[in-house]
Amino acid sequence: MPALVIVGAQWGDEGKGKATDLLGSSVDYVVKFNGGNNAGHTVVIGDQKYALHLLPSGILTPGCVPVIGNGVVVDPSVLIEELDGLEARGVDTSALLISANAHLIPPYNRVLDKVAERFLGSRKLGTTGRGIGPTYADKMNRVGIRVQDLYDESILRQKVEAALEMKNQVLLKIYNRRAVETEEIMEELLRHAERIRPMVADTSLVLNQALDAGRTVLFEAGQATLLDVDHGTYPFVTSSNAVSAGACTGSGVAPTRIDRVIGILKAYSTRVGEGPFPTELDDDNGDFLRRQGAEFGTTTGRPRRCGWVDAVVGRYAQRVNGVTDFVITKLDVLTGLDTVPICVGYDIFGTRHDEMPVNQSDFHHATPIYEYLPGWSEDISGCQHFDQLPRAAQNYLLRLEELIGARISVVGVGPGREATISRHHLLDPAPAQPGQRAG
Ligand code: GDP
Ligand code: IMO
Ligand code: MG
Repeated sequence: MPALVIVGAQWGDEGKGKATDLLGSSVDYVVKFNGGNNAGHTVVIGDQKYALHLLPSGILTPGCVPVIGNGVVVDPSVLIEELDGLEARGVDTSALLISANAHLIPPYNRVLDKVAERFLGSRKLGTTGRGIGPTYADKMNRVGIRVQDLYDESILRQKVEAALEMKNQVLLKIYNRRAVETEEIMEELLRHAERIRPMVADTSLVLNQALDAGRTVLFEAGQATLLDVDHGTYPFVTSSNAVSAGACTGSGVAPTRIDRVIGILKAYSTRVGEGPFPTELDDDNGDFLRRQGAEFGTTTGRPRRCGWVDAVVGRYAQRVNGVTDFVITKLDVLTGLDTVPICVGYDIFGTRHDEMPVNQSDFHHATPIYEYLPGWSEDISGCQHFDQLPRAAQNYLLRLEELIGARISVVGVGPGREATISRHHLLDPAPAQPGQRAG
């Protein structure tokens, strides 16, 4: 089972970090292929808690090579800060590889991200303010700055000058901010260049050679399906491809080499930032989920919006990612509820929709249609096998599995590595059976 992709099936924060960490010891490479330090992954190992933003979660596994692919946007100072933070805690980060083609987040893009949001006022997207959107826009506009540019100073200066010609106009004339000097940007970008140099590699070549040699490579998505710039709730999305296909463009490994796609689906839903969210709860149940699930952002500390699980979203994620196996996380958070609702469709202006509506405006008006399943009150955090779960929890999972169209292979019952129920090993060669859809 050489190449696997882990993707978020909802709006992010599903527990991708924990899932990557769980597989870490069985894989040789963990590749981050999209996004940047807008991500926030919390990984709990024993009594230690790690919050990762830019680095792939595989960095915590000894012997595993962490890779930042070409599809990632890298803020060099955040990179160094995160590496130093881990080294200070005894984590060996020396194996990290960074694609020479990854784009850098220059300081002016952090400023532009924040001022653009302020400018939008009530129409804001609620970005993380890390400069992600402007940096991907620069990449597409062909005025971006890449990691490899750090090692050719005259090219770097030309690119910074060219970018600033336009950026300074925007900063001054639209946002009424001060202009930025080329030298100031050069200095900040080059500050860590020598430290980063040994990590820079042709990561596409490295990964393809690793696959040729039978090594196992895990691609770890940042963000999630409904935050994907093409398949998410545009414009309330991030600016990269967070779906499984992004693993290929974001790493230089072809689709024909991907063997399995693992969708991470939280047992309820959360969203940070603005945008449609049909099952959102503005009541005691929403507070219950936020409190029980500790739903506060790893990156920005913002309280996450909470709601019931949405099987339409899960099924959509199965389809656009080709999910072969689902990991259901945070089942323990639902313990104590009398009934556990699952959204099975939407009512949109009196018409029932069983799939995501084609029109985004309709999605904004979707009222969930729920199936109500009995809840459970037993503490499930120590369960190690599916059979040990209360019958009601088992039935909840089995119904969800029918609706989302791929088998549930792993269930999370707590934040730690050990709080995990495995039904099918994610690295098993046995092919998954997608298409179990019932709903
Ligand atoms: P990611 O961005 O997808 O990696 O997810 P985050 O790390 O932002 O958010 C998931 C949170 O849930 C983290 O604090 C995890 O430690 C925690 N977590 C993951 N799986 C479980 C689980 O099964 N149960 C509980 N209670 N917490 C979990
Ligand atoms: P992980 O990897 C949840 C959201 C932001 C905002 C929108 C655009 O931890 O799941 P951006 O700064 O990317 O331009 O913001 O996307 N967002 C996330 N929400 N989890 C994340 O990452 C996110 N990364 C971005 O809140 O709504
Ligand atoms: Mg997160």
